Amino acid sequence: MDRLRINGGVPLKGEITISGAKNAALPLLALGLMSDDAVVLKNVPRLADTLSMEGLIRHHGVEVMRGDNTVTLFGAASSFDAPYDLVRKMRASILVLGPLLARYGKARVSLPGGCAIGTRPVDLHIRAMQALGAIVELADGYIQARAPQGLTGGRVVFPMVSVGATENAIMAAVLAKGSSELVNVAREPEISDLADCLNAMGAKISGQGTDIILIEGVTSLGGTTHRVVADRIEAGTFAIAAAITGGSLTLKQARPRHLDALIDVLRLTGVDVNELGDDLAVTANGRTLATDIRTDPFPGFPTDLQAQFMAMMCVADGSSRISETIFENRFMHVPELVRMGADINVDGGVAFVRGRRHLTPAPVMATDLRASVSLVLAALATEGQSEVSRIYHLDRGYSNLEDKLGQCGARLERINYGLDDDEFR
Ligand code: UD1
Repeated sequence: MDRLRINGGVPLKGEITISGAKNAALPLLALGLMSDDAVVLKNVPRLADTLSMEGLIRHHGVEVMRGDNTVTLFGAASSFDAPYDLVRKMRASILVLGPLLARYGKARVSLPGGCAIGTRPVDLHIRAMQALGAIVELADGYIQARAPQGLTGGRVVFPMVSVGATENAIMAAVLAKGSSELVNVAREPEISDLADCLNAMGAKISGQGTDIILIEGVTSLGGTTHRVVADRIEAGTFAIAAAITGGSLTLKQARPRHLDALIDVLRLTGVDVNELGDDLAVTANGRTLATDIRTDPFPGFPTDLQAQFMAMMCVADGSSRISETIFENRFMHVPELVRMGADINVDGGVAFVRGRRHLTPAPVMATDLRASVSLVLAALATEGQSEVSRIYHLDRGYSNLEDKLGQCGARLERINYGLDDDEFR
């Protein structure tokens, strides 16, 4: 198993080009199930999760060809069964449910796995499919859904905002008979990216980016070429990397408009943030000031940046209160940060962080995707040698992380121990 050995204490300086968004690419790859014509996706990051989704779409019978960052999907599906072995690796596999049901009137999808950040049910996905006329049964760990006469347009009111359920509902409704109204939908940029790509394929979607989406069903979709939107979470992670190491980074193609909540908070901590068109320049001004955050659906502060921001607050001047409102179990980085000397107390969904001038290097263990990168950030800010184990979590969501950080002065190397990490604990 690989670990990252990090010799921290170096302010990061330089330029990083932001990759395409993992969370936009995953639903976009599912569109390969919705048209026989070629769907060409550009700027698809090469990550464990995107490769896993490509494998799943291929399993359904669609041709999937990967160039460097371009993925071409082509042809009809011949299997409607998404088995546990493929789905357990990644929760986003549930995104094949809407496309298969809409296009072929049937789907059998294993209940998903993914990051261990809470129970993460899929009831909203199922309810959306039912509202569009699907008959759904749960049996043997599988969602079995069918719509023998095709889906029918309807009104789907989400009791809470869900990114994935919104995406599944959009993909299902575009090929349903008649019109649909999706209410209280997610407004994340990844939703707009999906809707824009679908519209280019012939769908009739309006309202993306607001909390009500209207869809006029069409009978079929054609192909298109689409460039995946920039990864705002990757950009936000590097912005925090600049701040926590006392450095200065220019993030190329970072799409600052998608990072308003983080930019506002970074400015409150005393960091200089300059928007230069699509680029973002982030420069620390000495030790950052502590400030409170609360995660919320977009345009609020993203839960996917909460762990990274907490790492930064561990060395900030003052105390901060970090409220996690999206996932109930998303503080798994806390015990690991505490191993590095951080002063954090958790009470339910709130973490109280008292900033320390310095953390101490330590061996730490990644527990989920964003938690693991928060440990990398903490190690980068800490003089001495730390090791982050179980970094396969990082490979799920960060493309070329070592190279990108290394070219900005970070001293880090990947080490293969060849043994299960548990043997070292
Ligand atoms: C997506 C992102 C993930 C991000 C999350 C929240 C992808 C591939 N992943 O995950 O990185 O952290 O949005 O911004 O885009 N919920 C239910 N029932 C459901 C579905 C969700 O109760 O059927 C709950 C979840 O447990 C959670 C909340 O809704 O508490 C939001 O989850 P959701 O937006 O669905 O997250 P994902 O789409 O899985």
